[in-house]
This record gives sequence, C-alpha cells and structure tokens, in this order.
Amino acid sequence: MADSELLEGEVAVVTGGASGNGREIALTFAEEGADVVVADVNESPREGGVETHRRIREETDASAIHVDCDVSDVDDVYAAVEAAEEFGGVTVMVNNAGITESRSFLETTEDEYDTMMDVNAKGTFFGSQAAAKSMLDGGREGSIVNISSTSGLRGRADGVSYCTSKGGIRLMTYALADALAPDIRVNAVHPGFTDTAMTRGGFVDPDSRAEFFEKEMPLGRPGQPNDTANAVLYLASDLASFVTGHSLVVDGGVTA
Ligand code: NAI
Repeated sequence: MADSELLEGEVAVVTGGASGNGREIALTFAEEGADVVVADVNESPREGGVETHRRIREETDASAIHVDCDVSDVDDVYAAVEAAEEFGGVTVMVNNAGITESRSFLETTEDEYDTMMDVNAKGTFFGSQAAAKSMLDGGREGSIVNISSTSGLRGRADGVSYCTSKGGIRLMTYALADALAPDIRVNAVHPGFTDTAMTRGGFVDPDSRAEFFEKEMPLGRPGQPNDTANAVLYLASDLASFVTGHSLVVDGGVTA
C-alpha cells in the first residue's frame, strides 16, 4: 500500500484496462487506494503477463474485477459502469480504450472510419454518459478522464480518422466539463508516442528506434505507460480539484 493514498475510497472504471496505458492506470489507481473495474474486450494483456485485475488483487489491498466490454457497444459500456455498483458505484471514469491506424486517407473505407469513430469517439461519449448518470443518480461527485492523443492536437498524414476521433475527444471533454459542472470534473490526457503494444506494431523501425527517439523527441525517449498513468492520477484525484476542461499533454515535448 502506498504511503499517501490519493484515491482512497474511490471506485474507478478503466476501459481498455487490460493492456498498455489502461493497465498502468488501473494498477496505479489501485496502489492509490481505488477499487477498479477493468473493462476490456480482452482479458489478457496484449504485452503478456498476469491479467490486470488479478495483479491488482495480488499486489495491492484494492478490489478489482474484469468485465468483458466492447466500448463501441453502448449496452456493454453501461454494464461496465453498473458493475462498479459492487464497490459502491463509480466515482472515476477513465475512457482509455482505443485503436489506431497507419493507412492512406485516400484508401480508408467507410467500415474502417466507422470502427475508428465507434471505438474511440462513441466509446468515450457513452462511457462518459453512463458514468455521469451513475454518479448523479447516486449523489456522488466524480471525475472523468478521457485519453486523447497528440493526434487530437495536430494532424498526422497516415492517421486521418484517428486524428478525427481524438480531436473529437478533446472537444467532447471541453463540452462535458461545462455540461457536468459543478458535480463532475472532466479532463483529457494527450499522450505522445508511448511504448505499448499499440506502437510496437511497426510505427518505428525496430533497428533505428534509438535514433528515432533522439531525433524526434526532445526528451530523447518514448513515453512509458506510467507517464500516462501519473497524469491521469493527478487529474482524477483531489490534487486537481479546481481543474476541469483541461488538456494535459504528456509527449516529451514533441508538440511544444
Ligand atoms: P494498447 O493497444 O496497448 O491497449 C489498448 C487496450 O484497449 C487493449 O487492452 C485492448 O484490448 C483494448 N480495446 C481495444 N478496443 C477495445 C474496445 N472496442 N472495447 C474495449 N477495449 C478495447 O494501446 P495503448 O497504447 O495502451 O492505448 C491506450 C489509449 O492510449 C488509446 O486510447 C490510445 O489511442 C491512446 N494513446 C496511445 C498512444 C501510444 O503511443 N501508445 C499515444 C497516444 C494516445
């Protein structure tokens, strides 16, 4: 158990919590005292290892469960939030589940576009709605943190539909911060290139990784999932009690 527990008594739902950024967010939250619902289409981490909810149970004093959830299915999203009732009801929602792409704009199909928007944008929209209804109906104040990207701040030629979805999340966050104040704070984290299974799929030539990070990233290294998790922890906790409608960029200086 950590010395100071920033999320003591909180109940979190983390979508995409089986792997990568979401896994680290879920583990960090549990170390800080939150009970966690890990909502993911997969139970096993993409990078391998023990499932997130089992690790939480083994390594922390927090409670955790896994819920099969495809965030592009509104019923699944509501069911994941409902599952948090087991721990007293959601107080922190992290809309993290996401997919990316590396493809030509001119060749992107309608199905590919729809899938991108359904998972990244619609998943975040209804994740926020389900959590907000649960918090308000239960008389609980809370916090929502949406995971956008530096691709929600500037364009990327081989990721036009990804940028569309992530830019949508940025504006959705601002609108929700207004719509849900003063009971619920809503913020976004915009990670840059982060070392997860998502980016190990060919974004950088494995033989020239060191040169790539040296050249492209002012801090000279890729982000790690704990860089994302620490930013989310700050926004989710009372440390950020006067912060809502904010975009926190965690990109090693790339967009500076
Ligand atoms: P990842 O691929 O390592 O993990 C994503 C997790 O989301 C997986 O466990 C996967 O099963 C789950 N998932 C995918 N589709 C889902 C769906 N429809 N419903 C529920 N769960 C689903 O990816 P990573 O890197 O951890 O990404 C997490 C978030 O961070 C995403 O929103 C991504 O766009 C964002 N991000 C990642 C960056 C990176 O460089 N890795 C940079 C900027 C943003």
